Amino acid sequence: MKRLLIIWTSTTFGTARMVEAAVRGAIEAAGSEVEVDIEHARDATPEKVLAADGYLFATPEHLASMAGLMKDFFDRIYYPCLDRINGRPYSLMVCAGSDGQGTVKQVERIATGLRLKRIAEPVVVITNAQTPEAILARKTLTAADQKRCSERGAALAAGMAAGVF
Ligand SMILES: Cc1cc2nc3c(=O)[nH]c(=O)nc-3n(C[C@H](O)[C@H](O)[C@H](O)COP(=O)(O)O)c2cc1C
Repeated sequence: MKRLLIIWTSTTFGTARMVEAAVRGAIEAAGSEVEVDIEHARDATPEKVLAADGYLFATPEHLASMAGLMKDFFDRIYYPCLDRINGRPYSLMVCAGSDGQGTVKQVERIATGLRLKRIAEPVVVITNAQTPEAILARKTLTAADQKRCSERGAALAAGMAAGVF
């Protein structure tokens, strides 16, 4: 059984909804061959990362970078995992009000440092929240965005099951 580790954090539930959709897609596509392990970034440890065969990172964008808890996760696991997870597949999902590209650049640089293998372009969901009230409101996803996230979970899990990455 391969293990897909999903590391996530979310403030207003947009990223959480993205993860739910990705999990559904992964289980539907390869639930009998891939175990899906969902860890909040705060709780994820180097041991969890080392024990997985592939990764899905999901984070909001905060102040043009990944959310602080996701950065803290990478800070804690980077050196314990360096050169021990080379070549394993990963994908990234970002929830942003209007941009998301600062987060994409940061996470991709870290993943390159860890020598992970990117399986596809990141999924970036834009919530169009601009005012403080809108930014702090609980988020829902459009059906199209849910589908994109579900398909990403499915692609990652199916590829891991088939050993194509
Ligand atoms: C402190 C803070 C900073 C933010 N900074 C950005 C930003 O730099 N760029 C952007 O596109 N969205 C920014 N946003 C908007 C969030 O990315 C957006 O609301 C998204 O839904 C957050 O994901 P979540 O619902 O999983 O928490 C910010 C939100 C907060 C709370």
